[in-house]
Amino acid sequence: MEVCGACTVLLDGEPISSCTTLAVDIDQHEITTIEGVVINRLKSRGLIKSSKDPLDPRRREIDLTEKGRRIAGAAIETEISGETFAP
Ligand code: FES
Repeated sequence: MEVCGACTVLLDGEPISSCTTLAVDIDQHEITTIEGVVINRLKSRGLIKSSKDPLDPRRREIDLTEKGRRIAGAAIETEISGETFAP
């Protein structure tokens, strides 16, 4: 079976194609999505914080921290000034 890799997740830290993996085979294992990797990295750098949604405990709310706001603002300023794509 050919795989494209678009659905890659980490199973106990090892990449697998989730579309070719049976749910019964991953019971009791740790799954990390690319979104999880990005969120955890931003959290560990103090750029975002997450909390439970008071209306739906299944959801998490994610907000920028003050440090995250400053960096995002600087990135937007850089983008607006055209420096990002300058030759
Ligand atoms: S390998 Fe392509 S979607 Fe899973």
